[in-house]
Amino acid sequence: MSRTARGAIARVPGEPVVFEDFTLDDPGENDVVVKILASGVCHTDLGLKTGTYGTDGFPFLLGHEGAGVVEEVGSRVTRVAVGDHVMLNWRAPCGECRFCVKGKHNVCANSHNAEGKMRDMDGGQLNAALGIGTFCSHTLVHEVQCVKYDPSLPAEPMSLIGCGVMTGVGAALYSAEVQTGDSVAVFGCGGVGDSVIQGAKIAGATTIIAVDIDNKKLEWAKDFGATHTVNSNEVDDVVAEIKRLTDGHGVNHSFEAVGIAETLEQALFCRDLAGNCVLIGVPGPGPRLDIDIQQFFDLGGSLTVSWYGNCIPARDFPTLAAWYKQGTLDLDRIVSRKISLEETNDAFDAMKRGETLRSVIVFD
Ligand SMILES: NC(=O)c1ccc[n+]([C@@H]2O[C@H](COP(=O)([O-])OP(=O)(O)OC[C@H]3O[C@@H](n4cnc5c(N)ncnc54)[C@H](O)[C@@H]3O)[C@@H](O)[C@H]2O)c1
Ligand SMILES: [Zn+2]
Ligand SMILES: [Zn+2]
Repeated sequence: MSRTARGAIARVPGEPVVFEDFTLDDPGENDVVVKILASGVCHTDLGLKTGTYGTDGFPFLLGHEGAGVVEEVGSRVTRVAVGDHVMLNWRAPCGECRFCVKGKHNVCANSHNAEGKMRDMDGGQLNAALGIGTFCSHTLVHEVQCVKYDPSLPAEPMSLIGCGVMTGVGAALYSAEVQTGDSVAVFGCGGVGDSVIQGAKIAGATTIIAVDIDNKKLEWAKDFGATHTVNSNEVDDVVAEIKRLTDGHGVNHSFEAVGIAETLEQALFCRDLAGNCVLIGVPGPGPRLDIDIQQFFDLGGSLTVSWYGNCIPARDFPTLAAWYKQGTLDLDRIVSRKISLEETNDAFDAMKRGETLRSVIVFD
């Protein structure tokens, strides 16, 4: 018998989300019904809602950063059982695609998603954001999208591991492979950028330069491990300022966590010789980069795009949860606000005004 849930749905690009009841199909053989306990509001949800990434795919059931409790499992599910607490992930390696067969599960091109669908009360299919959908009381996912966590840990910080935190920490550890004693610059100190800062600190970076246009964000970045801050609206030349802070050399690793051409160009040219630049921000179609290619060549090094911090959720989520438990990874301070589902539009407004690192929707 299909189940009814309630969620935040983006029906029209740019319009506020609406709150509706919807139905979950019976779980397919490998599907799992998860009662959501907490869901972070990631900038990518804002991009989906506004149509920044395109206007196809509406209506969306938003949310892709969630934690909850397993309420029902399909007939062949073995990884989780009813009552397990789980973090959800949006890249659940299939094990069979052209990348997985070469052991590159972190770039799986055919992530598992639920076989069952979610539908509005008229029967129209809802497109679950990044194959999950977590701004809702219940969701339907594939069992490989679930990673168990210790139920004594609070759901709000665990939910954040599902996207922003894993993306940022993984970008430092896996995409850039930051080493002890390295120098780092992070452009954009939101939930993702501050997670890059924490990942760089865990990896042993000794110079961590936070760059943002908002002094409040820069103050928060210091709490997560930034050793220096640069407000790009308050200096003439961001690249020159970063070089000044690094004995004229530039940084070993730069991270773009905004998603605009201006900061990508700054990130490219604030590197020392042979440094890595990691693009994390999602620009959406449109922005172009016009750079001096000889200057790019002369610096050497690399430009890498980091999807989901190159993570393998089954391997990495438990590590991040354990680091949280040990006090190595601060997730509580990323939770700026706890809100109800009906306050989702306010969360987007607060994000646009720069008031939050993460609003987290909490369910009873
Ligand atoms: N690659 C991935 O797998 C992945 C995963 C999650 C999120 N993202 C993307 O990462 C980006 C950041 O996400 P978030 O949730 O942290 O967003 P956020 O809105 O919380 O943070 C963005 C930060 O950028 C700052 N900023 C804006 N313009 C700037 C400028 N010109 N210079 C410096 N800083 C500037 C803002 O003040 C803010 O602090 C988004 O583009 C999001 O879509 C990518
Ligand atoms: Zn695969
Ligand atoms: Zn996200």
